[in-house]
Amino acid sequence: MNLSTHPERVTAGGTAAPDNAAATRRILVWDWPTRIGHWLLAGSFAVAWLTAESEAWRNVHVASGYLFGAVIAFRLLWGFVGTRYARFSEFVKSPRAAWNYLTSLLGPRPQHTVGHNPAGGWAIVALLVLGAISVLSGWLTFNEVGGELFEELHEGASNAALAVVGIHLIGVATGSLIHRENLVGAMFSGLKRGAAIAAIAGARGWAGLLLLVWVVAVVTFLMR
Ligand code: HEM
Ligand code: HEM
Repeated sequence: MNLSTHPERVTAGGTAAPDNAAATRRILVWDWPTRIGHWLLAGSFAVAWLTAESEAWRNVHVASGYLFGAVIAFRLLWGFVGTRYARFSEFVKSPRAAWNYLTSLLGPRPQHTVGHNPAGGWAIVALLVLGAISVLSGWLTFNEVGGELFEELHEGASNAALAVVGIHLIGVATGSLIHRENLVGAMFSGLKRGAAIAAIAGARGWAGLLLLVWVVAVVTFLMR
């Protein structure tokens, strides 16, 4: 496909820009902590969800919940000190920007962003906040603090997070189809379509390793 005539507007952030003929190559967008963190989040959330109702699996539920929480804590920090597209300042845009992005999908010139799109950015914030509430209230319930209140909050936040995961998956599938780009593959390889100048400088392998050490340390410490 000749992307120089592609009707999408390709931008590094969430705003519209003229067609960019240079945006044909695959460039590094997601660093290692973002990729490793994502699949740890997805996996631990799934395990926590599947083991939620069973007393017999309570330890697995709690351990996967701690793992999920440890990744969220790291991700919150990485949102300030990470590489370009991992930063909150890059993908948390105004509600209007999110709306403009969504409505552009219905028109002939859908906006295309190199990093997270402005609507996806809000789903990410919601997942991180609901996930943090779920972990904290689960921890309090587990330690028999607050009784019914935190138990209800735990279940409510977890259900809400699951609903946002559903929206997240619909968004990923829709974005992949409309932009003709495999977004799931990109979360593994780190590579997306974009202009060479928009690439991040390095994959931060050392920070990926740090994330792994951190989650193992947190889960081991809390489950001791
Ligand atoms: C098999 C299930 C899943 C798939 C295929 C998937 C896929 C993706 C993809 C492709 C992206 C990048 C979107 C973009 O290009 O802007 C992404 C981002 C994200 N997803 Fe998922 N996801 C899954 C499950 C989950 C779950 C269960 C959670 C959390 C409960 C989650 C949380 C996130 C977060 C926080 C991001 C932002 C990544 C970052 O910048 O750190 N995902 N996901
Ligand atoms: C991804 C994170 C988590 C998710 C999605 C999640 C989800 C859930 C859900 C949906 C339930 C309700 C099950 C039912 O219907 O009875 C539940 C129960 C429970 N969770 Fe979690 N949880 C998470 C993390 C944690 C953590 C970190 C802890 C403790 C440190 C924890 C401790 C508990 C306990 C003790 C219960 C039973 C509450 C009761 O007696 O009803 N959870 N969890």
